[in-house]
Amino acid sequence: MGGDLDRAVEILTGASRGCVFTGAGISAESGIPTFRDPGGIWERFDPAEVGTPEGLRTTLERDPGRLRSFLAETVATLERAEPNPGHRAVADLERMGVVDAVVTQNVDGLHTQAGSRRVIEVHGSLYRFRCLVCRETRSIERSRVLALGRALADDGVRGVAQALALLPRCACGAPMRPDVVLFGEAVQSMDRAFAAAQGADVLVVAGTSGAVYPAAALPREAKRSGAAVIDVNPGESAYGGLADVRIEGKTGVVLPELARRVAERGRGSAGRG
Ligand code: OAD
Repeated sequence: MGGDLDRAVEILTGASRGCVFTGAGISAESGIPTFRDPGGIWERFDPAEVGTPEGLRTTLERDPGRLRSFLAETVATLERAEPNPGHRAVADLERMGVVDAVVTQNVDGLHTQAGSRRVIEVHGSLYRFRCLVCRETRSIERSRVLALGRALADDGVRGVAQALALLPRCACGAPMRPDVVLFGEAVQSMDRAFAAAQGADVLVVAGTSGAVYPAAALPREAKRSGAAVIDVNPGESAYGGLADVRIEGKTGVVLPELARRVAERGRGSAGRG
């Protein structure tokens, strides 16, 4: 990994419009399981049951216990999750003027919590809710969202009507749901994400399998527009043929090391103030 790390440091030190493209892998060291790794979320829960609007409705009516265990596990995981050194290194690189955008597929809010300022959440956010009728959105604080998740995971909730009654209300009076992208739904802010990738001098891919489009197309777009691509992943790379540098390692280890060495080369301080 030494030579690859040196090359990545070299590229990042000369960058000022870096874009970091992240997936579930960057939050793995915060205790949030990824989707497709062994033991991952999609190995234990069927996306057709809990990952689509229709599936959620049907599961709630026919097998509410299944949905409750998914919700209970999700809430327990999120309650414990804090930003890890990988998220903090991304924020450090932004403060140094190396990175100017983070495009994330994650809905956990950990990049913002770690201090990143320009975060483009293409699969939405658990901490923003959207009206089921007028589509107005509003932020809802983490503790309230987790309390709602616990209430929905409660044994007493059966059927769609009861679940809807627990959801927060929009100013128009209709219920609001988490503004996350389920399978079959449109991705969010994709024009801003493509613009960030196309305008980047370097794109760092951090912890994604690259399995879900259109987000997975961002590294190719960046490369086509002249960016260097650095892929950080402890497992198989989705961008083997595309990446200029491939670093095999966990983002919680590799990204802080990169940020520290870029700072040493005179790009500001990697310390958090
Ligand atoms: P995946 O579960 O598909 O991939 C996780 C990636 O993270 C894999 O490539 C792992 O090798 C890597 N990984 C595991 N631990 C890591 C670590 N400590 N550091 C760095 N990388 C690590 O997750 P995503 O690529 O995010 O979409 O999946 C994309 C989308 O599929 C998600 O946004 C979600 C899911 O279905 C929706 O829900 C719409």
